[in-house]
Amino acid sequence: MTALLFLLAACGKGATVLEGPPIGSCAYTSPFSGELECREYYSAEVEYAETDCVELLSTFEPEVSCNVAELMGTCTYSDDDVQIRTYVEGDAPDRCGTNKFGCEFFANGAWEPGANCEGNDEVAVLENPFPQPVRVCVDPIDGEPAGQSEGGQVCTWEVVSGATEDGRSFTDYAECDSVIRQRGFSAAEPDARSLEEDVRMGDTTYVADVDWVRTQIRAGACECCHASAKGVGAAVFDADVDGNLMNQFHDNGLAMGAGWIPTVGFGTYPPEENNGFWRSSPENPNLSVIPTTDPDRIIAIFEAELEHRGLTPADFAGLTYGGAGPLDEQRAFVPDACSEEEGVAPDGTIRWLPGRARYVYVMEADTITPTVPPNLDTPDGTLWRIDVPEDGAPVFSETVVYGQVPAGLTQAWPASGAPEPLVEGRQYYLYASADVLFPISRCLFTAGDPAPSSCDATGGRGGIAGLAGIAALALVGARRKRAPTA
Ligand code: HEC
Repeated sequence: MTALLFLLAACGKGATVLEGPPIGSCAYTSPFSGELECREYYSAEVEYAETDCVELLSTFEPEVSCNVAELMGTCTYSDDDVQIRTYVEGDAPDRCGTNKFGCEFFANGAWEPGANCEGNDEVAVLENPFPQPVRVCVDPIDGEPAGQSEGGQVCTWEVVSGATEDGRSFTDYAECDSVIRQRGFSAAEPDARSLEEDVRMGDTTYVADVDWVRTQIRAGACECCHASAKGVGAAVFDADVDGNLMNQFHDNGLAMGAGWIPTVGFGTYPPEENNGFWRSSPENPNLSVIPTTDPDRIIAIFEAELEHRGLTPADFAGLTYGGAGPLDEQRAFVPDACSEEEGVAPDGTIRWLPGRARYVYVMEADTITPTVPPNLDTPDGTLWRIDVPEDGAPVFSETVVYGQVPAGLTQAWPASGAPEPLVEGRQYYLYASADVLFPISRCLFTAGDPAPSSCDATGGRGGIAGLAGIAALALVGARRKRAPTA
């Protein structure tokens, strides 16, 4: 291992300098993709690397480098003062683009393709795409009262922001499978103060409030990952914990609960479609991250907790994007002009960069970039949106003509009829994505301008910040610790 390694980013990001040799490595299985990965730590404290590796359910090996036979590529990035190079193992060419995106977008890192990804950076999600929310209606479980929907049934949206009826448990009425695929689960430690005694637990009024917060978490899809009794586990906080649930939250988590950090980016249904549960939304950004039937009560409880820790809103003032991190970064994305390879030709043919799309949008130029369902994925200003169904095959560039829905796809907007015709000389926003939160092209084109040239696979990818989808999240686990998402 040379003392200093230089790594050039594939898309002109500049050199990443690693100060080596590595202090050691961590080989693990990605909890998201199931792929084998290995991290080398440079200029890091051993303690940092050990903790990081434990969180990946593996063991740090001091002074050992990664030894990867089947290399898809490496991602080199720095996080605080730590420099990390992650090796992604495997032989799955269709995942090369995904890993590259995850590396560049989430980690702000440099992706270097290995032998198994050489020349392949097409972006496509061929399997296991983001599941769209489904509303499930079932009879109440034994011993519970009739539901509020037709025929006494209980209806629940299967989506991270969904909630069943107040007083019931989400997992009794909906499945966690798609919820977990939408968000990804990995265990994460609670705040250290949760290990300490808390005299407040002797106060019955206080305990009643904490117990009520538990009911709100259990009614929401949050139960899937934040309640050990019925969910798949509990990340950071556990509605079913014996001690004080509130002490498990980190400071940021509390601030999200109090609405001091806006969490609009996670998305929500309006309460009338979500069994009366409110959550932070563009209309009410400072509501809680936790879906609740009583926003004032939950905010008061979380604010009291922050006050107890001596914190004020000013302590979180810089955190514009709160815990929604990548979600909000995408929502805030402002497109530039399309490259020569992207746009809509005068005959309506739509072209995007190398990759296969599951979603194609044409929008007014100033439309907010679409992100997650249910309320942030068809922003005001959308003129046309077509979707590939979950079991369908994503479509190639130049196979879609504006206003004509290809066989096998569905028109998500407008609800019926043809979209407004494009006005010559006017600018519009083209958004083509391999999956939810996984853009291929997002740029401004002018209607009537000469046809863009065909895609050149070696061309620049200026418009792409890109991201890995859930599968490449583990690449950047170290970053995610600081920017929790819900
Ligand atoms: C599919 C799993 C999953 C679901 C569902 C989920 N979360 Fe999380 N959540 C996590 C994980 C994992 C973390 C740990 C940090 C990270 O990875 O971002 C987390 C962290 C958080 C945090 C930060 C906690 C802290 O103090 O650091 C908050 C707040 C949160 N989630 C709220 C929610 C709410 C509210 C819901 C329901 C609307 C929800 N989450 C649903 C997986 C999930």
